[in-house]
Amino acid sequence: MTDTTREIDVERWRREFPIVETCTYLVSHSLGAMPRRTRTYLAQFADEWGDRGVRAWHEGWWEIGRTIGDLLAPVIGARPGTISMHQNVTVAQAIIASCFRYDGSRRRIVMSDLDFPSNHYLFEGFRRYGAEIVYVEAPDGMRIDTARFIEAIDDRTLLVPLSYVLFRSASISDAAAVIEKAHRVGAHVILDVYQAAGTVPFDLTALQADFAVGGSVKWLCGGPGAGYLYVRPDLAETLEPGVVGWASHAQPFEFAPGPVQRAGSPERFQSGTPNVPALYSARAGYEIVREIGVPAIRRRSLQLTRRLMDGALANGFRLNTPAGDEERGGSVIVDVPNGYAVTEALIARGVIVDYRPGAGIRMAPHFYNTEAEIDNAIAMLRELVNP
Ligand SMILES: Cc1ncc(COP(=O)(O)O)c(C=O)c1O
Repeated sequence: MTDTTREIDVERWRREFPIVETCTYLVSHSLGAMPRRTRTYLAQFADEWGDRGVRAWHEGWWEIGRTIGDLLAPVIGARPGTISMHQNVTVAQAIIASCFRYDGSRRRIVMSDLDFPSNHYLFEGFRRYGAEIVYVEAPDGMRIDTARFIEAIDDRTLLVPLSYVLFRSASISDAAAVIEKAHRVGAHVILDVYQAAGTVPFDLTALQADFAVGGSVKWLCGGPGAGYLYVRPDLAETLEPGVVGWASHAQPFEFAPGPVQRAGSPERFQSGTPNVPALYSARAGYEIVREIGVPAIRRRSLQLTRRLMDGALANGFRLNTPAGDEERGGSVIVDVPNGYAVTEALIARGVIVDYRPGAGIRMAPHFYNTEAEIDNAIAMLRELVNP
């Protein structure tokens, strides 16, 4: 096995994430730890606002969506100029959904019943415009059954929102197979890469994903308010989002009356004023993930998740996560009796994890975690489950 502690200087990176000195932080699938330098970037934002005032808009703030999108781009295999920044995945996905009509023969949205609920809620809202929603059931409640999923995609399908890594089980979906089928029948795939970006390597360009959405709260350690939207470059300028604002206009500072004269991509997918402090906050995490590199993070993650799984199995705990390394993202879901109460007790003892009903206790090591922390979490779990 690769010595991932030699590949990643874990001790050095731990010093960059103050919270790991105070607890066993195993919750990066939910809220990645804050890098020390985030404070510096947020202070820079405050200084610019304080010292430069309104001039700051023309000294970098107005273009910050593109700047930060380009910083993220290599992490997800996107080319520069293909990413716009938004409040969250829901908004990014709503902008994409607003590019299409739902009154023709192609009006189906095909998605998994295991998707993050926001996807269900958002597209359910499009029924009023004529959308038909097809939920494809996952028989084992853990993985998308690729054959069954692909069968549901046909020439009535308009959009296929697909989680690359499922939030409930950390199962990795066969995105390439789904995209291939969707393209064969003329449908578009919106890949939700939230649970993958920063821990599982993938390349949106090579995958030929039409759209991708995600956020910075989790493995990217970028904090809230920095959602991103990728649009395939050859598709981007053919699309006309219904959800637009002055930041989508080619000449926003002309304040021209409607209709909007669309900017090129990615600005045409923006809406209104960018969320500047959130984008300053996101910068540090992106820089660090780029510096370490997602492939190295992945090797370390697999080593730690394997140790976590072995420890859980040795104690007779059930795992609601695929066993194979190639099928699993960065989290491990351990299902024990009274999981919610056990989660609360773990948190009270300084092992920070979370719980999802129907799944279990989600535990997620990142590049700043150690073997000792994994062993500590398993020992605590054993004590709490078998007192
Ligand atoms: C796969 C996935 N998609 C979407 C979301 C939430 O998206 P947002 O809050 O940015 O709309 C989450 C959050 O946990 C998630 O895990």
